[in-house]
Amino acid sequence: MSDSTAAVEFRSVSKVFRVGGQEHTALAGIDLRIEQGEIFGVIGYSGAGKSTLVRLINALEKPTTGTVLVSGTPITGVPESQVRRLRRDIGMVFQQFNLFRSRTVRGNVEYPLKVAGWSRADRAARVAELLEFVGLSDKARSYPDQLSGGQKQRVGIARALATSPKLLLADEATSALDPETTGEVLRLLRKVNRELGITIVVITHEMDVIRAVADRVAVLAEGRIVELADTFDVFAAPRAAPTRSFVETVLRTRPGAEELARLADRHAGRLVTVDVDDHRGLGDALATAAHGGVRVEVVYGGVSTLQDKTFGSVTLALDGPDGAVATVVDELERRGA
Ligand SMILES: Nc1ncnc2c1ncn2[C@@H]1O[C@H](COP(=O)(O)OP(=O)(O)O)[C@@H](O)[C@H]1O
Ligand SMILES: [Mg+2]
Repeated sequence: MSDSTAAVEFRSVSKVFRVGGQEHTALAGIDLRIEQGEIFGVIGYSGAGKSTLVRLINALEKPTTGTVLVSGTPITGVPESQVRRLRRDIGMVFQQFNLFRSRTVRGNVEYPLKVAGWSRADRAARVAELLEFVGLSDKARSYPDQLSGGQKQRVGIARALATSPKLLLADEATSALDPETTGEVLRLLRKVNRELGITIVVITHEMDVIRAVADRVAVLAEGRIVELADTFDVFAAPRAAPTRSFVETVLRTRPGAEELARLADRHAGRLVTVDVDDHRGLGDALATAAHGGVRVEVVYGGVSTLQDKTFGSVTLALDGPDGAVATVVDELERRGA
């Protein structure tokens, strides 16, 4: 995989803004490969540097140091004409949709084709195809103000796809949408990726978005990548502190110290928190518990799937004879070992 040309590559990239004599480092020491055909997520809190990273990819900003390559071609220190050509291969989707309110859906989707000099007949055919793809054929004559947020963003995606880009950049594309429409737009992004083979960079501050679409994810904190891994691994075993807090926003499966104290007050017996995944189930230990007269109550936790793999954790209250409880705890700890 790493032998092939990356869709996007950052080599030792930093970006420093100078504001009123003050230097502000937005990105530092970014090394990154986004592979062709993947959905790559970038998550971080506000101010982490996410939008700056996107603007470096489409050459709206120049790196202070280092090199950004798109499809193997450096995009800095090259003539403006080449940058323009490069941008034609990149589609952009925005948080606020950025549609022309005075143009119909058709007019909005058609716009980049007009700019690119397509004939009227070619434009009409392409727009029909795009609206079909995003499921808005019946809205061609509507104006943006007549559409829901999710529909507006589907128009934004159709417009971004008009000139057949190889790469789609979505900067907080669902942040203005409610959870239900967010799902609708994320499903469309997956379809764009799986059916059209377009590489997508999804920028977000929501771990739910990463979970729904990203194959891999980079966690950005204060301008640095603090974690980069397959999405499943990040959820199953987050390492960096910012990653753990992002994962906790989605999965509150492990009780904190305070929660644990409250649980101990309310439940008899010994509390144990154990991870559950495809290789570490609870069935055998529960059978042992039943056999030894140990009563088991699930008092906290959650088990879920991601990318068709099971993971999560549960906290159990084990109440029974000391020796039998110890045997069950021992069995729980030895699972999958
Ligand atoms: N054009 C700019 N001039 C000065 N500072 C900027 C500029 N763009 C971004 N920054 C600063 O860089 C940091 C990262 O910003 P940004 O990339 O927009 O973060 P995010 O998208 O993760 O919220 C912030 O501290 C922001 O204030
Ligand atoms: Mg931003």
